[in-house]
Amino acid sequence: MPGIWSMHDERIIEYVHSILPRSPGILPSIEDEARRRNIPIVGPLIGRLLFLLVLATRARRVLEIGTAIGYSTIWLGLAARRVKGRVTSIEIDPARADEARANMHAANLDDTVEVITGDALDVIPRLNGRFNLIFIDDSKENYPRYFELCYPRLSKNGLLIADNALWHGEVLSGSAEGKAVARFNSMMIGSMDSLVLPVRDGIAIGIKGGR
Ligand SMILES: C[S@@+](CC[C@H](N)C(=O)[O-])C[C@H]1O[C@@H](n2cnc3c(N)ncnc32)[C@H](O)[C@@H]1O
Repeated sequence: MPGIWSMHDERIIEYVHSILPRSPGILPSIEDEARRRNIPIVGPLIGRLLFLLVLATRARRVLEIGTAIGYSTIWLGLAARRVKGRVTSIEIDPARADEARANMHAANLDDTVEVITGDALDVIPRLNGRFNLIFIDDSKENYPRYFELCYPRLSKNGLLIADNALWHGEVLSGSAEGKAVARFNSMMIGSMDSLVLPVRDGIAIGIKGGR
């Protein structure tokens, strides 16, 4: 329809970013670093959403799968610190995990965040207890397996969040990764109060309720 704007219009996306406050602390320098080295990070919009979701749910036990150099981890950690919570984040690449630890130190989050080096598929079963919020952002082929591993580890009313829930549109085109993400989305929507928001590359958010 003429005159109706598209949510994916570049000008709208630019506007939404332009009204965001500058990311706090060292995050802008990590945004620059990630851009320079081509490291995929969630960026300031999804980072701030993660921050708000931790605050809104007052999540005190937070798990992240896929740390990279700790950009999203800092957003989660800043919110967790406010609610006296803690973040555990898992990264398979030892050099990235070391860099993430250095970034946690620079962000004054040593006491709030623990970065574990290892394959999340092996590490998750060894973690103790349940989590109030789990954020998934690593290899897309693993997403269905992460659903199976993470769902039982969520507390009641716990949030499950997954980035790249549209995987550049490949959830429709049926590549191996696209199929895995689509499978994850249906597992989540089939068992939790949940949705996929078409923001950036898609973000899936579900709550483990009583059903
Ligand atoms: C998209 S990046 C994470 C970005 C980060 N969440 C952020 O926004 O700042 C995905 C990361 O997951 C890591 N990864 C891939 N497979 C993994 C696995 N099986 N276990 C743990 N980490 C893994 C990769 O090495 C990569 O650093």
